[in-house]
Amino acid sequence: MTPTVSLQKKYLECWRLRKEFKTDNGLFVAVRDFTLNISEGEFVSIIGHSGCGKSTVLSMIAGLHELNGGGMVLDNHEIVGAGPDRAVVFQSPNLLPWLTALENVTLGIEQVQPKASESLRAEIALHWLNRVGLGKAANKKPAELSQGMQQRVGIARAFALQPKVLLLDEPFGMLDSLTRLELQDVLLDVWSTHQTTTLMVTHDVHEAVLLSDRVVMMTNGPAATIGEILSIPFERPRQRESLVETTEYMHYRDEILRFLEHPNEKAA
Ligand SMILES: Nc1ncnc2c1ncn2[C@@H]1O[C@H](COP(=O)(O)OP(=O)(O)OP(=O)(O)O)[C@@H](O)[C@H]1O
Ligand SMILES: [Mg+2]
Repeated sequence: MTPTVSLQKKYLECWRLRKEFKTDNGLFVAVRDFTLNISEGEFVSIIGHSGCGKSTVLSMIAGLHELNGGGMVLDNHEIVGAGPDRAVVFQSPNLLPWLTALENVTLGIEQVQPKASESLRAEIALHWLNRVGLGKAANKKPAELSQGMQQRVGIARAFALQPKVLLLDEPFGMLDSLTRLELQDVLLDVWSTHQTTTLMVTHDVHEAVLLSDRVVMMTNGPAATIGEILSIPFERPRQRESLVETTEYMHYRDEILRFLEHPNEKAA
């Protein structure tokens, strides 16, 4: 077993991120003062009530939303706009329907490795499809795949980009609970061998505890920010079955549930 990641080195730095939206009722401050440093190889989750601003934070880091304050640095470079160093997986994988699973994954690789030969790109894509258990379905089109299988393609596509940071916005939110558990295990497995720095938004307390090194708990909006941060020091690789029954696991779960009952109690 490897110990959990050391939290010494800053890799992704978010400093006082702020997002405002213009609405019919004036300016709406969605997120304020969101300051978080993530180490290389760390898995961090953001949890909070619906509408608090989780996706807004992720979109700012992805470069899909302009900032109204603060700044971000990734691997010593300031983040400005979207880029292939940050791969995003949303609830729905938005695969191109006329391409096969393999072609959908290959397309992403083309953008980050334009000089790689076609056969090498296909080889890399197949490697990732195998990693998410979809090797046999590589030549199927999205319409022939279940929702869970499509999301596996989405995960393969994101890892195939070999991004510096993986940004996941409720990647299993649309799946039934069994498929959700399956895909959590797939993500744990792929992540444990590659340790891509990951920031994942989730509603699911169990998912947060099982997967994360730290769980960032957000206050309710307007002007949402970080309420508390909880470290989850379980060793990796982690096995759901052996963890979920332990008192430590229940302690971390209860800490998050306690926060979610009164998310704005300690907000500055
Ligand atoms: N384009 C926009 N214009 C105006 N308000 C917006 C816009 N996008 C988001 N908001 C508001 O910002 C707040 C945060 O939204 P966000 O989508 O980040 O929440 P969330 O935590 O991801 O919610 P959920 O868990 O339901 O996905 C909400 O009040 C939302 O209505
Ligand atoms: Mg959201």
